[in-house]
Amino acid sequence: MMFFHFYCFIIFCCVHRHVTLKDEESIPPIAKYFNTKGRYEEVNPYLRQDILAVNRSSLQPPSSQCREIHLTAIIRHGTRYPTAKTVRDMQQLHNIVLNNFTEEQSWLRETLTQWTMWYTEDMDGRLVQKGVEDLKHLAVRLSKLFPTIISEEKLRGGLIKFITSSKHRCVNSTLSFKAGLTEMWAITDVEFGHEVNDALMRFFDHCTRFVQEVDKNSSAVIEVDKFKQGLEMMRVQKKIAEHLGISSSLITYDLAEAAFLLCSYELAVKAVNSPWCLLFDEDDAKVMEYASDLREFWKRGYGHDINSKSSCLLFHDLFSRLDKAVNENTLHQQVTEAVTVQIGHADTLLPLLTLLGFFKDAVPLTSANYASQAQRSFRTSRMLPYAANFLLVLYDCGEEGIRLQPLLNEQPLTFPGLTDQQASMLLYEDVRKRYRDLLSGCDFEAECQLLRNPAEV
Ligand SMILES: *[C@@H]1O[C@H](CO)[C@@H](O)[C@H](O)[C@H]1NC(C)=O
Ligand SMILES: *[C@@H]1O[C@H](CO)[C@@H](O)[C@H](O)[C@H]1NC(C)=O
Ligand SMILES: *[C@@H]1O[C@H](CO)[C@@H](O)[C@H](O)[C@H]1NC(C)=O
Ligand SMILES: *[C@@H]1O[C@H](CO)[C@@H](O)[C@H](O)[C@H]1NC(C)=O
Repeated sequence: MMFFHFYCFIIFCCVHRHVTLKDEESIPPIAKYFNTKGRYEEVNPYLRQDILAVNRSSLQPPSSQCREIHLTAIIRHGTRYPTAKTVRDMQQLHNIVLNNFTEEQSWLRETLTQWTMWYTEDMDGRLVQKGVEDLKHLAVRLSKLFPTIISEEKLRGGLIKFITSSKHRCVNSTLSFKAGLTEMWAITDVEFGHEVNDALMRFFDHCTRFVQEVDKNSSAVIEVDKFKQGLEMMRVQKKIAEHLGISSSLITYDLAEAAFLLCSYELAVKAVNSPWCLLFDEDDAKVMEYASDLREFWKRGYGHDINSKSSCLLFHDLFSRLDKAVNENTLHQQVTEAVTVQIGHADTLLPLLTLLGFFKDAVPLTSANYASQAQRSFRTSRMLPYAANFLLVLYDCGEEGIRLQPLLNEQPLTFPGLTDQQASMLLYEDVRKRYRDLLSGCDFEAECQLLRNPAEV
């Protein structure tokens, strides 16, 4: 027994020292599985050394004569606090850790009783200071990547337009992006406006059919519920209970998720490697990640056709802007909207990426194919961290034509179904051909109308 205590003490010390470090080693090994609660730095690890680093060689225009003529950036807000519901789950988990242990020793539980619950319900999803920096830094990096269009001259000339969702975290992210530019160029004599447009940036709230058939319909996410009750998840919950010396019947999926979220928020908000992270090894984290990916897949991704169709308005808005820039350029006029910065949500980006066919696996994600989906491309941890950004860059390449390059999180994307080396920078007319069915259809009003009740047919 003496020996056992001594052994526990040693581990406790090491763990404690480890979790208070703030250098790179203190990033929990499970940080790359945090879905939409992950840091942008985990997606682009070179940013951990230098948050303003850019890799211009990853942009590969087909020739040196290519000139940027337009950029649309659809950006998710930066790091935010948990929502009120998540905070309530965190509180419940913390209370169970404090009050409901069995007689058994648990060094991890001891460590967690020293942890102070500091999240409060009124934080409800607000942007945090780190989130302000996420957007400021992104603005500076994008101006380094695209110096000829994200320039002081274009900003002062009113050629950079800002559109945002009305949510406070998005408005504040928009202000932060603008501040990133104005502070860099020391602009103090002018202020730049923005437009609030929820029809565009929160289309999911306005699509009645999506709301009825998916968002408010628990049967639409049946696969998620099955996975949460399945063997993989049971194993994770049981391990958490064992680590804590708590009866395993007390650790529900929601509380396991609360522990995972505590780990992710402590890292994202405070840059701390929290002891909550020690409840999960990498295999456990992959199971948690899959549960969340399943939910995104069925609620915003390929699971139901209406999920992506709800973004038809944004899709058409995007292409009409690209068309306009191409036309002005062809007529040798100045492109009136050189840059459009649109700030919204993960729920804004995912349906659009899905509509465009990105990250589509051969087989749908279900509760039963966790193992065979290990190499799936539909991975929200990589697609949608805080400040995730989808860029479409139009180039005038002279004799090589007008070309379009898509990028996600500053990495080039390849248009789906194409493997050709140049596929990431197609001729704009070929991109239009690829999406011609959507361009001539994808009518928001028609898609989002409620279908007639089958009983009446
Ligand atoms: C920059 O991008 C190029 C081309 O995509 C890639 O080969 C290279 O590894 C990248 N460099 C860094 C530091 O990420
Ligand atoms: C957990 O502990 C609290 C406080 O001691 C007690 O009121 C509650 O009944 C316990 N719950 C369970 C399920 O043991
Ligand atoms: C947004 O920013 C303003 C000014 O910096 C700040 O006062 C406010 O609390 C922020 N709001 C949210 C919801 O983060
Ligand atoms: C709810 O979802 C299920 C499964 O997708 C579907 O069959 C059903 O029609 C939906 N219910 C409503 C009210 O739309």
